[in-house]
Amino acid sequence: MKREQWGSRTGFILAAVGSAVGLGNIWRFPYMAYENGGGAFFIPYLFAMLTAGIPFMILEFTLGQKYRSGAPGTLRRLNHRFEWLGWFQVMICAVIAFYYVVVIAWAISYTWFAVDQSWGDDSNAFFFGEFLGLGDNSPSSLGSIQTHLLLPLVLAWAASFIATYRGVQGGIEKINKVLMPLLFILVLVLIGRVASLPGALNGINWLLEPDFSKIWDLKVWSAAYGQIFFTLSVGFAIMLSYASFLPEKSDINNNAFMTVLMNCGFSMLAGIMVFGALGYMAHAQQKELTDVVSSGVGLAFVTLPTAINLLPAPGVTGPLFFLALVFAGISSHISIAQAVTTGLMDKTGWSRQKTAIIFCGTGFVVSLLFITQGGLLLLDLVDHYINNMALLGSCLLELFLVGWLCKLSDYQKRANELSEFSVGIWWQLCIKFVSIAMLIVILFNNIVGAF
Ligand code: PFF
Ligand code: NA
Repeated sequence: MKREQWGSRTGFILAAVGSAVGLGNIWRFPYMAYENGGGAFFIPYLFAMLTAGIPFMILEFTLGQKYRSGAPGTLRRLNHRFEWLGWFQVMICAVIAFYYVVVIAWAISYTWFAVDQSWGDDSNAFFFGEFLGLGDNSPSSLGSIQTHLLLPLVLAWAASFIATYRGVQGGIEKINKVLMPLLFILVLVLIGRVASLPGALNGINWLLEPDFSKIWDLKVWSAAYGQIFFTLSVGFAIMLSYASFLPEKSDINNNAFMTVLMNCGFSMLAGIMVFGALGYMAHAQQKELTDVVSSGVGLAFVTLPTAINLLPAPGVTGPLFFLALVFAGISSHISIAQAVTTGLMDKTGWSRQKTAIIFCGTGFVVSLLFITQGGLLLLDLVDHYINNMALLGSCLLELFLVGWLCKLSDYQKRANELSEFSVGIWWQLCIKFVSIAMLIVILFNNIVGAF
C-alpha cells in the first residue's frame, strides 16, 4: 500500500507547528522566561533554538522523509539494534497521550464555566475542591471517577480519534489548517484585549526586563535547552513520524526553520498575553506581581480564572482564553497520538481505522485513571518523570545513536540536496557536541536533584 502524504507544504508546516505549539507554550514558557532572567533569557533561549532546536528538527525531518516510517521503523533501518529506542519513544508518547488529554478535558470544561465564571470568587477552592473532588486532604487512593469530567474527556479524545481515523490529509491536515490560524487569531485578540488594561504593560515589562546577571548561571542555560527540546516535540517520535508523510521532494531545511520560528514566535505572544493578564491582576488587587505569578496547572485553572473575574467583560474574554488552550492542546495531542498509531500501523499493517479504534479506545479507558480523585496527584507524578527523565533520555539516546554511530554527513548531504538553502558543518557539530553535552548536563542535574 502506498504511504499517505501531506496534501500541501502549508498543511505539513501547520501540522508540525500544531504539534509544537501546545500547553507548554502557554503555561510553561512565560514563567520560565520570567524566572530565568526575563528579557535576558532570550539570549540562551535563542542560542538553544539555533544550536539544538533547528538542527534536531532538520535531523528528524530528514530521517522521517528518507525512511518513510515512524520512529521504530526508522531506527530499525538505521540499525536493527536501534528499534527498541523507537518503541521506547512510542511508549513515552502513549503515556503522554493518556494524561495530556485530561488537561484538554479540563480546559473544555473551563471554556464552558468561563461564560458565567462558575468558579465563583475562590477559584482555588473551586478547582481543587468542587472540580477535581479533592477535599481538604489529598486522597490516599485513587477514589472514584469524577463523572462530570466524562463528557469533556470523550470530546477531547474525539479530536484525536477523528484525526487518526480519517488519516493524514483528510484528518490531521484538515483539522490543523483550521485550528492553527484560529489559535493565532485568538491569541492576538486576547493580547489586544489585555494590553489596554491598567497594569498590563507593567506585567509585560516584568517579563521582558532583562536581568543580565543570570546569563552566567548554568541553570538558566539548561532551562533554555530543556524548554527547547520540550517545546519542539523533537526526540520522541513525533516530528519524525509527521515527516514520514512528506513527499519525495520536500524542502527540509526551510520547513524546519519555519516550524521552529513559528513555535518560538508563538511562545513570545503567549508570554505577552499571560503577563499582561497577570500585570492587570496585580494592579486590580493591589498586589506585587511576585504574589500572582505562577505556571502550569495553577496558572491556567486557578490564577487566570481569578484574573478573568476582574475583567470588564469576563464572559467573552474568559471563554476565548480557554478555547485557545483547547486548540493548542488538541493539535499537540493529535500529533502525540499519531506518533503511536504510525508506529503501530507500520509494524502490524493494521488499517488506520482499526488502529484508531484500538488506540483511542484503550487510551480512553486508561485516561479514566486521571479523572479520579487521585488523578491530579498521579498526573503530576507521571508528568514529572516523563519531562525530567524520559523525554530528555530519549533525545539524548537518539542524538547519540544517529550522531555518533551513523554517518551524520550523509543526512546533512540529503537535507541540503532537497533544500533551497544549505546548512554547513555547524549542523553536525551542534548535534554531536552542543546538544548532546547540554542534554547530559540537564539529565544529570535532574537525576541528582531527584535524590
Ligand atoms: N510541544 C508541545 C508543548 O509544548 O506543549 C507538546 C508537548 C511536548 C506535549 C512535550 C507534551 C510533552 F511532554
Ligand atoms: Na511547544
